[in-house]
Amino acid sequence: MDAAVRAEGLSKIFRVGFFARRVRAVEDLSFEVRRGEIFGLLGPNGAGKTTTIKMLLGFVRPTRGRAFIGAAPAGSLQARRDLGYLPENPALYEFLRGDEYLIFAGRLAGLSRADAQKQSASLLERVGLAGRADRPIRRFSKGMVQRLGLAQALIGDPHTVILDEPMSGLDPIGRKDVRDIILSLRDERRTVLFSTHILSDVEAICDRVGIMVDARLTDCGALTDLVAPGARAVELTLESATSELVARLQAQGARVLQGDRSAVFTFAEEGAARAALEASVAAGATVISFLPHRRSLEELFVARARGRAATS
Ligand SMILES: Nc1ncnc2c1ncn2[C@@H]1O[C@H](COP(=O)(O)OP(=O)(O)OP(=O)(O)O)[C@@H](O)[C@H]1O
Ligand SMILES: [Mg+2]
Repeated sequence: MDAAVRAEGLSKIFRVGFFARRVRAVEDLSFEVRRGEIFGLLGPNGAGKTTTIKMLLGFVRPTRGRAFIGAAPAGSLQARRDLGYLPENPALYEFLRGDEYLIFAGRLAGLSRADAQKQSASLLERVGLAGRADRPIRRFSKGMVQRLGLAQALIGDPHTVILDEPMSGLDPIGRKDVRDIILSLRDERRTVLFSTHILSDVEAICDRVGIMVDARLTDCGALTDLVAPGARAVELTLESATSELVARLQAQGARVLQGDRSAVFTFAEEGAARAALEASVAAGATVISFLPHRRSLEELFVARARGRAATS
């Protein structure tokens, strides 16, 4: 019961067009965001991140499964009360001034006028808009809109903050600022869930990450587990390996690239590779090379995305 956000077997099928073609946006997604952590939902365009977030907020009804914010069902008043949200492409009221908009958002979040004014002033400071928000939003640059959207997500002091692509449209300094703000939210013991397709954002600030590809969660866990410094992939290259040996190594989990004379076996972790090395020597194969290399998050991500391309 200690999760700040929980998804249990969430699925969403959209029906589009005259023939109600089925689009599987999210498929059997289960994960938890723990209290006080920064969780990154990483996935390429169209993976289903926004749809997942909208189900967590209660904006989109799941076809199957359930979601909770704390103990409260997603979408319930109780769930929304303590939640801040930055949409993917925030469409803010263009004719309001930035500072007025923020006060308005604070009033919607249930703050008194005085509290809304106080919080909005300190939030404008926090997102780097102090002294620049006294003009209509339509005169804001893209980065300023994103910053104002972030301030809006934080007004009312929510314990859990869900941000859909918070760094999008920002220049390098803006990205760094937003990362720092997200880190400061964790320092205040808030929970942050954000989506992105940019690996470096995840690598820089997340405690745990979920990788989403083609509607499914392919990996979920601490960054250090997914790309543990110790968890190294190994490439073993052999010459004159018998077909029995090739079959045996394949059965032990190796990916095989068979050439004319040599074969390259890739093992996901070093232990299995060492066992294979011994077996190969015992079977009389010639060892050409044994090359461990560290798996980066990028490799993992690319491998997952390629896997999708290969199956679809
Ligand atoms: N309202 C909708 N009606 C029909 N299909 C939809 C709807 N919303 C999303 N989809 C489809 O669901 C899939 C997942 O979309 P989603 O927006 O959740 O992906 P995403 O991971 O947020 O992508 P991006 O990185 O581009 O924002 C896509 O194929 C999209 O076309
Ligand atoms: Mg999206």
